[in-house]
Amino acid sequence: MKIQVITLFPEMFEGVFNASMLWKAQKDTDVELATVNLRDFGLGPRKTVDDAPYGGGDGMLLMIEPLMNAVNAAKEADPKAKVLLMTPRGDTWRQSVAKQYADAGNGLIIICGRYEGYDERITSVVDQQISIGNYVLTGGEIPAMAVVDSVVRLLPGVLGGETSAEVESFVEDDETVEAPQYTRPAEYNGMEVPEVLLSGNHAEIAQWRAKNAKR
Ligand code: ADE
Repeated sequence: MKIQVITLFPEMFEGVFNASMLWKAQKDTDVELATVNLRDFGLGPRKTVDDAPYGGGDGMLLMIEPLMNAVNAAKEADPKAKVLLMTPRGDTWRQSVAKQYADAGNGLIIICGRYEGYDERITSVVDQQISIGNYVLTGGEIPAMAVVDSVVRLLPGVLGGETSAEVESFVEDDETVEAPQYTRPAEYNGMEVPEVLLSGNHAEIAQWRAKNAKR
């Protein structure tokens, strides 16, 4: 799967794409992560990407031409890719949606909004608008990182244990989170690990975990 992120700040992705699971996924599987610098599609000698909104209002908007040209370039590299737009106005990102995109296996083109927003006409080429929650970030970069991470870890061959993505939070119904977990030592500064987890009784442990999973 190829994931292309359209952004004015490609340098923000260097750390995230080159560490831990995302780095390993690129090394060991067919996952390809790339950034597309929106500035390269800016207009005129100053590579302008933004302009004031019609009708007035605060701030600047990303212009339609650089955005559309960047999407077209990304589509050329991966014609079947689905286009996602990061915006607080989008559908809330959830585990089940991440799973749908991972299972579908199409590449993704992720557009990061910036400034006060973007020319709405870009939505004509967007398959889904995505929000990562009801709060406003300065741009779509951090949301895009969350989306990339949550999809890639569900792709075949990415996680170490075969079942690690099956026995974790939100898998069953987008609501239930895993029970608390503990590792050695069994007692730390007077804080003890629940007795049942030390018992070796798998049925009882499963029962305890089910009871302590939280909706
Ligand atoms: N851009 C700014 N805030 C956002 C959010 N909450 N989700 C997605 N994109 C955003």
